Amino acid sequence: MSSEEPHANGSLKPDEQSDPCVMVIFGASGDLTKRKLIPSLYNLAKSHLLSRQFAVIGIARSEMSHEQFREKITSDMKEFATGDIDDDLWDWVQRRLYYMPGGFSDDATYQNLKTLLDQVGKEHGAHNNYFYYLATAPDYFGEIVKRLGAAGLATEDENTGWRRVIIEKPFGHDLESARALNVELKQVLHEKQIYRIDHYLGKETVQNILVFRFGNGIFEPIWNRRYIDHVQITAAESVGVESRGGYYETSGALRDMVPNHLFQLVTLTAMEPPISFEADAVRDEQSKILHAIQPMSDEEVLRRTIRGQYGDGTAKGERVPGYRQEASVNPNSGVETFVALKILIDNWRWADVPFYLRTGKRLPKRVTEVAIQFKRAPFVLFRDTGVEKLTPNRLVIHIQPDEGISMRFGAKVPGPIVKLGEVDMDFNYEDYFGKTTSTGYERLLYDCMAGDATLFQRADMVEAGWSVVNPILDIWKALPPRSFPNYAAGTWGPKEADELMERDGRRWRKSEADFSG
Ligand code: BG6
Repeated sequence: MSSEEPHANGSLKPDEQSDPCVMVIFGASGDLTKRKLIPSLYNLAKSHLLSRQFAVIGIARSEMSHEQFREKITSDMKEFATGDIDDDLWDWVQRRLYYMPGGFSDDATYQNLKTLLDQVGKEHGAHNNYFYYLATAPDYFGEIVKRLGAAGLATEDENTGWRRVIIEKPFGHDLESARALNVELKQVLHEKQIYRIDHYLGKETVQNILVFRFGNGIFEPIWNRRYIDHVQITAAESVGVESRGGYYETSGALRDMVPNHLFQLVTLTAMEPPISFEADAVRDEQSKILHAIQPMSDEEVLRRTIRGQYGDGTAKGERVPGYRQEASVNPNSGVETFVALKILIDNWRWADVPFYLRTGKRLPKRVTEVAIQFKRAPFVLFRDTGVEKLTPNRLVIHIQPDEGISMRFGAKVPGPIVKLGEVDMDFNYEDYFGKTTSTGYERLLYDCMAGDATLFQRADMVEAGWSVVNPILDIWKALPPRSFPNYAAGTWGPKEADELMERDGRRWRKSEADFSG
């Protein structure tokens, strides 16, 4: 086997492989690199999707040689690979890993990078294509791009290959800072070079929302205000803030999850059919939804947004501390670990159909889903039967875990009297497609290497998301501190979240019976 031939890549299909390129990871000693990026590259190589002319340069502060970096990553892979490791293939991958120590604010780093890129690029035939993955603290995003620009490493012209930059979240911490970052990036890069990542879009179940809605003829006609009563979107986590107290103190649940992940689910669920799967066709429709979200007045923020913070409680049968007792958290912290909100999308399809969103840490279970609640059928036919009420149909897109889609409807319970039971029609990914071993980053990395930005955020989308969230942040800041904690770990958030729904005559999905279907 030649050293250029990855063993498990024997049947590479040239048309499906990513472009030849070098990937530069800023922040290569961090969690993202070992947990997601390297395992994803390995999975891409395994599925024959990674170009043979590929290499990685990791940059971080710690001193390490190329060899030490390879050894470290090889040992990390034992822990974080999502499936079995083929030794020959891994050997092929690890020989393409390079490392250089450097501070992100040092000019020397960028000069050294230039030299190394040139050398590595030539050695692996990377056609002068580079992409930079900024897996660093957000404070560095603007600075790194500025310095890449100054070193001539971001320019695309007829003499260079392509240059792209992937920016991790958080993209700004409010509207103003997101705008400022966009301005900073655009001083160096064209919009088409910027790939703002949201890992929710790497999830198969999230990508499938578009296919489900627009690849089937039967759902679209009923996907509107005439048939749908409301939509409930939940991203519940059973874990607490774990080791990320320091970050979370500057963020809170609203910033951490809503303008990015939850709004992705909202836009994909609510958007009009795009005219093609071209990046801008899809993103134009998503953007329209964000712009159609009704802005909240001060008074509406008070009525339609609920925040909570967990106190101590029980998770998986064990006592767990409250948020304020977590590492790196202020013991009097006013930061929310739960948020519920009701938003309205003012357009012809959705007017008067509320979208209820909730997300939080230390909730009773890990579940992310989009539940579409249809309107109840007219009862008249059942008036003289023993049936007391009809249960509305519900379609649930199970994002994770237990990925799938289920439809609940009423059926006659066999027997001489008319009795209705609730039954479920279930599609489970694993049953049909087997277990997948992906990290969720493969498609995103592959798309970036292919120059397809469909699953990345455009500047206007990020800003539109923050525009919805900003008034909420402003009002919360202006209010006297909430008396936190207001929900116990292991429960479904503060009681006000229930009241938000009850006021509208609705309720959150919560019980095991709710989640069984
Ligand atoms: C991250 C948030 O973006 O998403 C975390 O910063 C959160 O706080 C995570 O836990 C949730 O992602 P997933 O894929 O587990 O739903």
